[in-house]
This record gives sequence, structure tokens and C-alpha cells, in this order.
Amino acid sequence: MGFRGGTIMPKISQLFFKSATIFFIIGVIMGLHMGISGDHTPFPAHAHLNLLGWVSSAIFAIYYALNPAKAVGRLPMWQFAIFTLGLVVMIPALYFMALGNAALEPLVGIGSFIVFAGVLLFAAVVFSN
Ligand code: HEM
Ligand code: HEM
Repeated sequence: MGFRGGTIMPKISQLFFKSATIFFIIGVIMGLHMGISGDHTPFPAHAHLNLLGWVSSAIFAIYYALNPAKAVGRLPMWQFAIFTLGLVVMIPALYFMALGNAALEPLVGIGSFIVFAGVLLFAAVVFSN
């Protein structure tokens, strides 16, 4: 008799936990690299990768798991796709900008606004009926 009970976590929670975990691994490697090399210059990329990529994505995952009714429909998938795309644009650009490539600043801005769009979509999910 195997375990058959429990709730299946919504697909969107699985996705957000997967992206969060990948961001976490890269964020921690970045932190270790800064610590070992003694060069802390790219810390803003590390901070935002961990706080937006790991912490915020994991909070989204938990929200959808606690509110499975909000996990249905297309909006959560769009929220995942846009928020995650924003980070994929923003964080590498921020990393190399912090290391001295000032030309990347507009790309950091574009990525930040895509992240912001993902945050607004999350608000749309939270405040929807
Ligand atoms: C083994 C894991 C980690 C290592 C080795 C590490 C290492 C570092 C280092 C070397 C700095 C630069 C400090 C400075 O020069 O001011 C830093 C900054 C920072 N880290 Fe990490 N980190 C790790 C994990 C995390 C995690 C999991 C988070 C968030 C959830 C985080 C958030 C931050 C933040 C916000 C800053 C900027 C702090 C400031 O404003 O000065 N780090 N980290
Ligand atoms: C698209 C969203 C975001 C943008 C555009 C943004 C932008 C910024 C900027 C411009 C700074 C100052 C950097 C400096 O002076 O070197 C900063 C610092 C910081 N932000 Fe954010 N932020 C965002 C989201 C967040 C979130 C969600 C968190 C926490 C959950 C956070 C935590 C921090 C912390 C701890 C610092 C100080 C450490 C650092 O300078 O990297 N940020 N952020």
C-alpha cells in the first residue's frame, strides 16, 4: 500500500520552484566566487539574483500551492514566463554592468521593466476573484 493521499502541487508551483532552484544555485555560486576571489564588485547581480530569482520565485510557488484556485488559466503561466524572462535579461546584464560594462545599463533597465511586468501580473492574479 503506497502513499496515495496529499495534494498534487499545481504545475505553476513546480515550475516556479524549478526556476527558483536554478537561480539559487547560480546565486550561491556567484556569492562563493565573490568570497573566494575577494572581488565583490558584482554583488548587486548576486543580491538581485537571490532575492528576485530565488526568494521571490519561491514565494510565487508557495502562493500558488496555497491557492490552487488561483493557479488555473493562462495568467499564471504568463506571469511565470514574463517574470522569469525579465530576470534572464536583467541579471547577466547587471552582472557585466557592475563589472564595468556601462553600455549594458539600458539592457538592465529593459530587464527590470519586464520583471516589473511580471510583478504586476502577479498582482492581477492575487487581486482577481
Ligand atoms: C553560500 C552562499 C552565499 C555566499 C557565499 C554569499 C556571498 C556574498 C558576498 C561575498 C557578498 C558581498 C558582500 C559585500 O561586499 O558587501 C554578498 C552580498 C549579498 N548577498 Fe550573498 N552570499 C550567499 C548567499 C546569499 C543568499 C541566499 C542571499 C539572499 C537570499 C544573499 C543576499 C545577498 C545580498 C542582499 C547582498 C548585498 C548586501 C549588501 O547590500 O551589502 N546572499 N553575498
Ligand atoms: C525589478 C526590480 C528591482 C529593481 C529595478 C531594483 C533596483 C535596485 C537598485 C537601483 C538598487 C541600488 C543599487 C546600488 O546603488 O548599487 C537596489 C539595491 C537593493 N535592492 Fe533592489 N531592485 C529590484 C528588486 C528588489 C527586490 C525584490 C528586493 C528584495 C526582495 C531588492 C533588494 C535590494 C537590496 C537588498 C539592495 C541593496 C544591495 C544592492 O545594492 O544590490 N531589490 N535595487
